[in-house]
Amino acid sequence: METNPIPILTIQTTPFDDQRPGTNGLRKKTAVFESKKNYLQNYVQSLLSSIDLRDRQGCTMVVGSDGRYFSRAATEVIVQMAAANGIGRLVIGHNGILSTPAVSCIIRKIKAIGGIILTASHSPGGPGGDFGIKFNVANGGPSPDTVMERIHQVSRTLEEYAICPDLHIDLSRLGRHDFDLENKFKPFRVEIVDSVEIYLNMLRGIFDFGAIKSLLTGPKQLKIRIDAMNGVMGPYVRKILCDELGAPANSAVNCVPLEDFGGQHPNPNPAFAASLVDSMKGGEFGFGAAFDADGDRYMIIGENGFFVSPSDSLAVMAANLSCIPYFSQRGIRGFARSMPTSTAIDRVAKAMKVALYETPTGWRFFGNLMDSGRCSFCGEESFGTGSDHIRDKDGLWSVLVWLSILAVRKQGVEEIVRDHWAKMGRNYFCRFDYEGVDSRAAYYLMRDLEAVITDKAFTTQKFSVGNNIYSVEKADNFEYIDPVDGSVSRKQGLRIIFTDSSRIIFRLSGSGAGTGATIRIYAESYERDPERHNRETQVVLGPLIAIALKISNIHERTGCRGPNVIT
Ligand code: G1P
Ligand code: ZN
Repeated sequence: METNPIPILTIQTTPFDDQRPGTNGLRKKTAVFESKKNYLQNYVQSLLSSIDLRDRQGCTMVVGSDGRYFSRAATEVIVQMAAANGIGRLVIGHNGILSTPAVSCIIRKIKAIGGIILTASHSPGGPGGDFGIKFNVANGGPSPDTVMERIHQVSRTLEEYAICPDLHIDLSRLGRHDFDLENKFKPFRVEIVDSVEIYLNMLRGIFDFGAIKSLLTGPKQLKIRIDAMNGVMGPYVRKILCDELGAPANSAVNCVPLEDFGGQHPNPNPAFAASLVDSMKGGEFGFGAAFDADGDRYMIIGENGFFVSPSDSLAVMAANLSCIPYFSQRGIRGFARSMPTSTAIDRVAKAMKVALYETPTGWRFFGNLMDSGRCSFCGEESFGTGSDHIRDKDGLWSVLVWLSILAVRKQGVEEIVRDHWAKMGRNYFCRFDYEGVDSRAAYYLMRDLEAVITDKAFTTQKFSVGNNIYSVEKADNFEYIDPVDGSVSRKQGLRIIFTDSSRIIFRLSGSGAGTGATIRIYAESYERDPERHNRETQVVLGPLIAIALKISNIHERTGCRGPNVIT
């Protein structure tokens, strides 16, 4: 216990009008948090004030970061403000480091009221990059809309914040640290915990570690290559895949968390994890994976560089969950996917006679389904998969699911995916991202497009491109009614579904750092015939993309000549 009580100060401030959290927390350019006076403090105060005082006093919260630039300074401010706002205990990762799934896991394990994660996910870090603050609630999952709205409301009129500027902690010292605060509150405790241990313990109870270990070390050893992209996953990969499961140390690359991720986009897709894809092409490795900065996203690459699209990964995992003790013991209740995610998993759900829920984009919509026991497994096309073991997507867990499937089925990645297509048919899928679009142009484009596709005449519309004719079956702006609490989420993306079950979807991104808008176009088509499962995705989807470009006029209206990224 410190000897002199630490003073609590109340500091005057003025509100900001741009602190509405997006799809996954408040994300801005790092400079906004770092240089705009009180910008960070205002948001942290709004976040803490959004928690009812009775719940807040004496409660426990978790704090972690993906290690990006400005995380340490921000963690210090959060500690000082949590203390001043009556939080009783903070559990923080060693050196401030915790992956998003580890935070979700710890919140649930220690029954914390929530957790703050400092990350801008897969966006670049550093002084010129992005920074973000996510808030996960007591079930371990991202804040629901109601919580985000409350935070935003508080932020709009905030006039002061509370802070203990003299309270300093050493994030490198594991263990408990108690602080005596001036007046009001009981002692304030900070616990610095190993970043990996609690999460690893949970995984031990989910998977057959013995089976994975034999796969990675046995006589027919599977050689793997894992790229932590210089983000938070380095320590997790080393401790879990190498130390615990026996993968040789040189299986793991880019495993030291760097503040600027080595200048790279810590984004596990074929465009940004190109070096992983290249090294897989050499044929030396049978399994490859990469993670994003905070470890909730992942990408799987098979032998010779075979790319597993996230929607396929979701469907293949769903069909093979019985390879994992957690699911073979508990059974499977239901599956869920976000609306733009391909419908490949719907076919699995049908075959397995399991319920399938289609939710808006964003992990928070899966929370109620899992809390109420309706859903065991879910995912999104944006390289995220997870289950009810926690309430966020989980990259390393997904990799262990794949390794478990390989261990049980004794087949390679490509063989397993091709088998799946042969049995269920193949859903070709791609996403076009138009980034940095003028916000007004994006808004009007979506508004006008909605008017076009929801006009009655559109429902009888036919499009012919080359030899293909596409007849519209249904078109709308997706609306979701939560089956648990009945809440309605409107305008979640423009959908055009054709009679052959192919789809075109348009959405505005909700996760940007505020530099213009991002328009996403998703295209999907289904192919039953195994003879036609070897085609190039872009060729197969070419006609649908052509329709999408034509009806939206996106290039003319935005001045973009093409998408920035195709995944
Ligand atoms: C993106 C993804 C979405 C994901 C979110 C947070 O959101 O598309 O699937 O849940 O990031 O990781 P968007 O920018 O599309 O709103
Ligand atoms: Zn992420």
